[in-house]
Amino acid sequence: MKELLEKIWQSALAAIESGNDAESLRIRFLGKKGELTAVLRGMGALSPEERPKMGQLVNEMREKIENAIAEKAAKEKEEALKNKLLSEKIDVTLPGNDLSVGHRHPIAETEKMMRDIFIGMGFSVVEGPEVEYDYYNFEALNLPKNHPARDTQDTFYITDNILLRSQTSPVQVRAMENSKPPIRIISPGRVYRADPADATHSPIFHQCEGLVVDKGITMGDLKGVLELFAKKMFGEDTRIRFRPHHFPFTEPSAEVDVSCWECGGKGCRLCKGEGWIEILGAGMVHPFVLSNCGIDPNVYSGFAFGMGIERVALCRFGIDDLRLLYENDVRFLEQF
Ligand code: DAH
Repeated sequence: MKELLEKIWQSALAAIESGNDAESLRIRFLGKKGELTAVLRGMGALSPEERPKMGQLVNEMREKIENAIAEKAAKEKEEALKNKLLSEKIDVTLPGNDLSVGHRHPIAETEKMMRDIFIGMGFSVVEGPEVEYDYYNFEALNLPKNHPARDTQDTFYITDNILLRSQTSPVQVRAMENSKPPIRIISPGRVYRADPADATHSPIFHQCEGLVVDKGITMGDLKGVLELFAKKMFGEDTRIRFRPHHFPFTEPSAEVDVSCWECGGKGCRLCKGEGWIEILGAGMVHPFVLSNCGIDPNVYSGFAFGMGIERVALCRFGIDDLRLLYENDVRFLEQF
């Protein structure tokens, strides 16, 4: 019997050694159908004197095996924890994943600067449709059918009557139709012309219109507003210059230049030696336009202006080809 117990002990040690897991060892050696239990069952055949001795031996052996298995179980648990910690290891000192953050497109950035400056002067921002009636784009602005100035703004027609607006000036008409003076608005947005794309032309581009209508508005107000705008947009030392011009919807009309912010007016590459850079058209709202919109030109007067947003953006950011603004090459756009 003793030999049998010793054999069980040896095979238990071998089984523990060979990596059987603690639970299956417990079942094999200590379970109801286990090897040690079988020995206990065989004790019936022993003499009454031998029985307690053997019982004690079996119990000692049970304890030994139990301890060995418990030790094995503890080791297993420790091993599992170690593996878990290893596999779930996070190095919180590693740098995070790079999130690339974009920024405004140069056109949007320029438009925002314009908005901010005019909002600061008390203007509000309104929008108008890009698909527009001929009436608003031309007719009401004193450009009747067959007016030669329509040629320079040749655009895309949807019907005889409906077109893609060639300028933001139709928003003036809508603003005057929709509200009573005093009116003080700007209207940035997209415009269309049937021009092939080159370094300075694009069939789609952006303008920002401005309109002020009230009693007693004069050309002095127009100059003051544009001068302040130019200083905020291009720097405090900037001067402006009015050159006589013709627009059908203003009288008198002017083209407005700003002194070159690169050379201060001496003449350089940016201003092509001129010292001045043309940025917008402006004038006093033509009395015909006021009456077309139901505003009495004998009571009210106003000024208007319109500028190309790309033109300002190209100058400000020193870009020499308009097309670069539309290609959306991130390597190019990242520079601004
Ligand atoms: N709409 C004109 C253009 O596209 C620009 C312009 C000139 C707008 C004079 C005006 C203005 O409001 O008064 O060339």
